[in-house]
Amino acid sequence: MLTVKDLKDIKGKVAVVRVDFNVPLKGGEIRDDNRIVAALPTLQELIGKGARLVLLSHLGKISYKLSDEEIEAAKAKNNLAPVAVRLGELLGQPVDFCPVTRGPELEEKVKNLKDGGVLLVQNTRYEKGEEKNDPEIAKIWADLADLYVMDAFGSAHRAHASTYGIPSILKEEGKPVAIGYLVEKEVSALTRCVDVSDSDRPYVAILGGFKVSDKIKVIDSLLKKCDKILIGGAMAYTFIKAQGGKTGNSPVEDDQLDYARKCLEEAKGRILLPRDSVVANGFEDWTDKKTVPSDQIPDGYQGLDVGPETIKEYSEVVKGAKMVFWNGPLGVFEQDAFQKGTIAICEAVKEIPDAFTVCGGGDSAAAIKQFGYSDDFSHVSTGGGASLEMIENDGHLPGIDIVR
Ligand code: 3PG
Repeated sequence: MLTVKDLKDIKGKVAVVRVDFNVPLKGGEIRDDNRIVAALPTLQELIGKGARLVLLSHLGKISYKLSDEEIEAAKAKNNLAPVAVRLGELLGQPVDFCPVTRGPELEEKVKNLKDGGVLLVQNTRYEKGEEKNDPEIAKIWADLADLYVMDAFGSAHRAHASTYGIPSILKEEGKPVAIGYLVEKEVSALTRCVDVSDSDRPYVAILGGFKVSDKIKVIDSLLKKCDKILIGGAMAYTFIKAQGGKTGNSPVEDDQLDYARKCLEEAKGRILLPRDSVVANGFEDWTDKKTVPSDQIPDGYQGLDVGPETIKEYSEVVKGAKMVFWNGPLGVFEQDAFQKGTIAICEAVKEIPDAFTVCGGGDSAAAIKQFGYSDDFSHVSTGGGASLEMIENDGHLPGIDIVR
């Protein structure tokens, strides 16, 4: 794959760069600029080479099944303009913003770009055709470009117009398409979790989060690769019920009980479930909390974190690992009372600095950031959905494969 480093003689050329600036916004204020910071090395490389940068990104979700009024409200909520301001601060140079995604205003702004200049285009999802990989909008964007750089790892599992349509067209036209530094780093880390070498064993995966049904493909894939899979979060209770345990009011997916049984059988002891759980008589409005065996949760109570025995067992397994892949917190880490399991995994990872440890983005990345452990991991992915799909599909994602 061509990388941004390989691109030569691009001074004055228009580089359309797909970035993932899908950052959390509240009232137009950026709550976490991680993804903008993660794109800087690629942007700085292109700026240094004198390219003219046209940046494309989506932000949030815009459903076109809603009324016109609701669509306009979703657009207003997901306006990318504040990101241009923050990017300008981080780059230390002005970043122009184009409030529309096509037409004369955009064409004019691209024409006015100077060498090393940067233009951020409005949210790609302002276009109804973006998520359908509509050829018309893909062509409009491709026509702006002399070359294309894919650095939106968080969006690489989407075959949309900006992630798939543009590079398809440019490749046919014989124009250069490349990956950026962020995508290069993510691919290298996650490929190691997929093509497991003997020196990376024991390989331990930690899976948490709400639903088994969201993780079916990744569990299947990890079962073929890992030495141990530690399960936590609400999804653990579907496995516990499948074994005949009493799970009280914990959220259980009854339609996944057969699948959970099949996994446990196939795993032959390699899947570990929480022995004990911290349970409470409610979610946010609870008044009583206690620690009980995970298969004896009383009615009216639900499991919200793993208990101390589980923490001890899981921590020992993690400390013995040479490679760790983690996706999904072990408890409701947003509440102080149910953070211990998630923090214990961070602590265990901190104690194995020589192991290769990957946090697969999403909620677990938010948790390790909140608790101050981001620097203790070898790699923290910027893409929750993308990193999971990369594991599920043996290292393949549409937005990266098209650049190969
Ligand atoms: C993400 O936040 O996971 C990526 O930006 C992809 O967003 P999407 O799920 O809305 O496509």
